[in-house]
Amino acid sequence: MVKQKNIPIVTYEEFQERAKSNPNLLAKSPFIVEGYIQNWPCYEEWRNLDYLRKKFGKLSAYACSPQFTTNSNVKLTRVKTRFDQYLDYLKNPEKIEEIYEGLWCDGSYETFLAQNKPLYCGSLRIIQEANDRIFDDLNPIVPKPLENWNSILPFYYKICNHFWLYVSLPGALTPLHQDNNGTFAYLAQLDGRKRVTLYSPEDFDFYHNSKVGFLDVLNPNDEEFPKWRSATKWTGELTQGQALMMGTDWAHHVVTIEQSISVSLDFVNQNNISAYAASEQWANSFGRRVKMKPEALGLFSSEELKKKSDVYIGRKAMRSILKNGLKNNNNGFDGSIRKVFLSELESLSE
Ligand SMILES: [Fe+2]
Repeated sequence: MVKQKNIPIVTYEEFQERAKSNPNLLAKSPFIVEGYIQNWPCYEEWRNLDYLRKKFGKLSAYACSPQFTTNSNVKLTRVKTRFDQYLDYLKNPEKIEEIYEGLWCDGSYETFLAQNKPLYCGSLRIIQEANDRIFDDLNPIVPKPLENWNSILPFYYKICNHFWLYVSLPGALTPLHQDNNGTFAYLAQLDGRKRVTLYSPEDFDFYHNSKVGFLDVLNPNDEEFPKWRSATKWTGELTQGQALMMGTDWAHHVVTIEQSISVSLDFVNQNNISAYAASEQWANSFGRRVKMKPEALGLFSSEELKKKSDVYIGRKAMRSILKNGLKNNNNGFDGSIRKVFLSELESLSE
């Protein structure tokens, strides 16, 4: 027997009450929150594809089928696209061969047909700065009273992408995965419908196989995942105006049921700063950047740059940036948060 739970659906008011008495409520359960994103000033505008085309049409990205892969048995098909071109595909999916002629960078039109799933543009980078005006359109950017420390953590939006706009056709698939960087995340449904399946990090060994990757939720393989039935499957359907809230390392699998427009944010606060600090993903990206231009910090010997890992360099560079920043501005709310981040980084063994 598969253990199954429905993801609780709560009103924004109820979510706020629960979060007031337990600010770390996402650790133990995901929630579908109703009535939160309707507060966003952009709520109506962002549900309009012509508006999104005007605002983001020129950005380039990849569109893939499935969105990405997390299981070594699955092949990825991928095209390089501009967002407006992807929206053309969305309007006329039968014209895909013509729209993406010569643009396949993984697989081909034939392998795409064999996948039998639409392309999914899920790598659009629309935020690179903590003070981007877009955040005014989506205020409050996280449901109250949850805190959001993203803009206080140095280079948060520069090192990795943490804000996503997803427009997808029915059948578009995001396979089971855990998000990077130990963040919390939400998936806010501006239009359409998605089916979501989540698993707790406590059940990780049941749905993950180090040789293969993550379980195919729709077609579980008993040989590769002999204990998958022991994992509790949390399911829900996300409809327009709802937001799915997820805690650190909750694995999730998402299928678009009706053409969808969604936004997703990764965020950090007092409840997951320790997981964020310990995460190797941001440190790895940051370390790689530092190695490209080490003179900007003047912190590393050429020996260190050659011998040490990107993660080591990224963490050491971040500690130095935090320490220097705190010398100049030691006080206030932001300073106290940066101190917490620094002490979490200092507690990690190298
Ligand atoms: Fe995710």
